[in-house]
Amino acid sequence: MKATYTYNTAFLKSLIFILSLSPLYEMIWFTVSGRFGDYPSWEIIGITGEASLVFLLLTLLVTPLRKIFGWNNLLHIRRMLGLFAFFYAVLHFFVYIWREENFIFMEFVNDVVKLPYITLGFVAFVMLIPLAFTARDKMMRKYGKNWKSIHKMIYAITVLSVVHYMLVSIWAPLNALVYASILLLLLAFRFVYARTAKDWMV
Ligand code: HEM
Repeated sequence: MKATYTYNTAFLKSLIFILSLSPLYEMIWFTVSGRFGDYPSWEIIGITGEASLVFLLLTLLVTPLRKIFGWNNLLHIRRMLGLFAFFYAVLHFFVYIWREENFIFMEFVNDVVKLPYITLGFVAFVMLIPLAFTARDKMMRKYGKNWKSIHKMIYAITVLSVVHYMLVSIWAPLNALVYASILLLLLAFRFVYARTAKDWMV
């Protein structure tokens, strides 16, 4: 069934936009109330990294929810969820190269080469860039079938991000394992339904 744009959709979109800024409100609140610990940049890297991952998973959840419950209006918020994943990834990356690397390029290259969790995070981030820049409807029409192929990369990006998180939290892996299980379920849906439904979207 087609997704129609109604007042309810516009309301849902605005509500989700406001809610999606929650990690940003949290960081602002922590700053003004002095709740950050001794090493705020590390905490900001944690909040933004987790936010980016949650938005990647939410983006992937849209199609299963549409297929199972017929919530077609969710299609109108999928792009926004994906762009929020990118937004938080940019903040995450920016704080890292600023606070951890002092914008020294060779230090960063050194980390990318030597630390597997940085390698994976960086690959995921680079792969996310073309998705963010081709998110608009105009781009979808321009690239046609190729657009779908580009946007299917979101699965690989999310897998890399989950592995990145697992490597980061190797001594306390519970959260990462929860995200990995959610991703496995989403991938299972993807493969089971994609075989039967021709109109499966990324
Ligand atoms: C799509 C891209 C990325 C996603 C989704 C992502 C996600 C995450 C997540 C979920 C965490 C754990 C947060 C927590 O501890 O609660 C994390 C931590 C981290 N990420 Fe990323 N990340 C991405 C890219 C990057 C990039 C490009 C870099 C740096 C080049 C990076 C560096 C780090 C660092 C330094 C940590 C913290 C390590 C620690 O706590 O010991 N990430 N990331």
